[in-house]
Amino acid sequence: MITPRFSCSQTEAAVVVTIYCPSVRASDVEINVDETLFSIHVNPYFLRLNFPHPLLEDDDGTSASYDASTGHLTVTLTKAVKGQEFRDLDLLAKLLAPRPSENVPQAPVIEVLSSEDTPGNVDEELAERTRGLSLEQHQILEAAESDWQLPQDAPEPLPALLTTPEHRYGFLNMHAGYLRHVAHTENEINELGADAETCPPDERRTRRLKHEEEKWDEEHYMADYMEDDYIQELIAWQNPHTTCTDNFQYTEEENLTMLRLPRKEYLAAPSPTHDLYLTLVTLLFSYAYDTRTTQHDPTPESAWTICSLTPAFSALDPPPYPPLSPQPATSAAAVAAPELAATLATSYRRALAFPLYRSFALAEACRADVAALLARGKRLVARCLLELKRILDHHDVYYVYSKIWVDDFCVWLLAYASDDVLMELSAAVSALRMEKRMIGWDLDVLESSARQALERDPDSDDESEDEIERMLPAPL
Ligand SMILES: *[C@@H]1O[C@H](CO)[C@@H](O)[C@H](O)[C@H]1NC(C)=O
Repeated sequence: MITPRFSCSQTEAAVVVTIYCPSVRASDVEINVDETLFSIHVNPYFLRLNFPHPLLEDDDGTSASYDASTGHLTVTLTKAVKGQEFRDLDLLAKLLAPRPSENVPQAPVIEVLSSEDTPGNVDEELAERTRGLSLEQHQILEAAESDWQLPQDAPEPLPALLTTPEHRYGFLNMHAGYLRHVAHTENEINELGADAETCPPDERRTRRLKHEEEKWDEEHYMADYMEDDYIQELIAWQNPHTTCTDNFQYTEEENLTMLRLPRKEYLAAPSPTHDLYLTLVTLLFSYAYDTRTTQHDPTPESAWTICSLTPAFSALDPPPYPPLSPQPATSAAAVAAPELAATLATSYRRALAFPLYRSFALAEACRADVAALLARGKRLVARCLLELKRILDHHDVYYVYSKIWVDDFCVWLLAYASDDVLMELSAAVSALRMEKRMIGWDLDVLESSARQALERDPDSDDESEDEIERMLPAPL
C-alpha cells in the first residue's frame, strides 16, 4: 500500500484534501469519515489522516472529484462546526501520526504529549476502526505500541531479566541492532567501538568523556584563538533561517520527506519528553555549527561534523547530563538553567575538540543560532532537522543516525512538540551565560598565555604562521 502525496487546505465550512493518485479508477475510491478520522483507499493508495476537529460523516458532508488528466483526487470534507479553524494542516507528519491507542491506561506514568487534541475516550474506538481499515495499518500500530511500551522511564531493568546483553538506544531508547557491525564500517564517529550495541548507558558516557579528553588539543585551540580572521568571518555570517521573513511554506521536497517519515506513536512520560527538548538543543547546535562553518552549503564532511558534535550519535549518550551547579529543587521553567548549561557545555566541548574550527566565540555564535531557530517555532525547527536528515541520509555510514534519532525526532517535533515550550527553551538558551570554566579545559589560562606570548613578541607573525600551519590537523 502506498501513501499518496497529498495537501490540505480549508475554507470556512470545509477541509479540502488533494491527493495525487494517477491512473486509478474513480469508482474504486473508498472514503471513510469518522469524527476526526479520515481515510481513503483506492488501489494501490491508502491514506489515513487525523484532524484536530470533527468532520461530518460520510454521505452528509463528503464529496470527491477525480481529474484523470492530472491524477488529482479532490475530497471536500465538511467541518462539523462551521467556521472552526483547523490548525497545522501543513504539518503532514502530524496529520499522518496515529493517535494514542487503547494501551494507554495500563501504564499510568505515560502521558500523551499533545494534550490539546487527544481526547482519551476516543482512542479505543479509533484503534478498533483502524483495525478495520487495513491489516497493514494495524501492524504498523502494533509495532508502534510495542515500541513505546518499553520501560522508558522505569528503573533500570534488573540484569537477570535481560535476555540479551543488548541495550537499546536512540530516540526514546526504541532502537537496537543498527550498530552490530559498526566495527566493519567506516564509522569514524562511533566512540563505543565494536560493542556499541551492548554498551550500557553509564559506560557510554565514560567512553565519551574519555574520547573528548583524548581529542582535546591545546595547540589547535590556541592557534585558532590567535589566528582567527576566518573564524571571525564565520561568526559574522548570518544564518538565513534566523532572519528570513517570507511566509513559511514547505517545499515539495520537504513535503515528500515528511510523507516518508515513520508512522509511530510517540508517547512518553514527562521526563523523557523533557529530555527530548534538551536533546533537540544538541541537535540544533550541531546543525548550527555545520551551517555556519559551511555557510549553509553542506560539504562531504558535513555528516561527519554533525555526528562528531552530537553526543547522542557518537556515544549514544543524549542529555540529561549532570548539572554544573546544583539544580533548584523545584523549577517552574520547562528547563532549568543548570541542566541547559550542562547540555550546551557538552556541545561546546565537542565543538572545541573535534572539528576544524575550534573557537569558543564560534560556539557562542552557534548557541545564538539555536536560540534564534527555536524562537521561530516548530515549522522552522523541523525544516532544520529535515536539512540535517538530508545530509545524513546521503552518507553511506552516518545515515543510521537518521534512522535511530532524526526521523523520529522530525515526527515528534511536527506532531507532538509544543511551540510554547520551544519559545521558552529559546529564551532560556539565549539568557544562559556560558563561561569558559564550564568547559573544563582551562581555556582562560590558555588564552591569556597566548596573549602574553604575543605581547612579548609582537613581530613574530611570520614565524607563528608557520608554526600554526604545522599545528593544524591534516586535511580531513
Ligand atoms: C507542501 O504541503 C503544504 C501543506 O499541504 C502545502 O501548503 C504546500 O504548498 C506544499 N508545498 C509545495 C511546494 O507543494
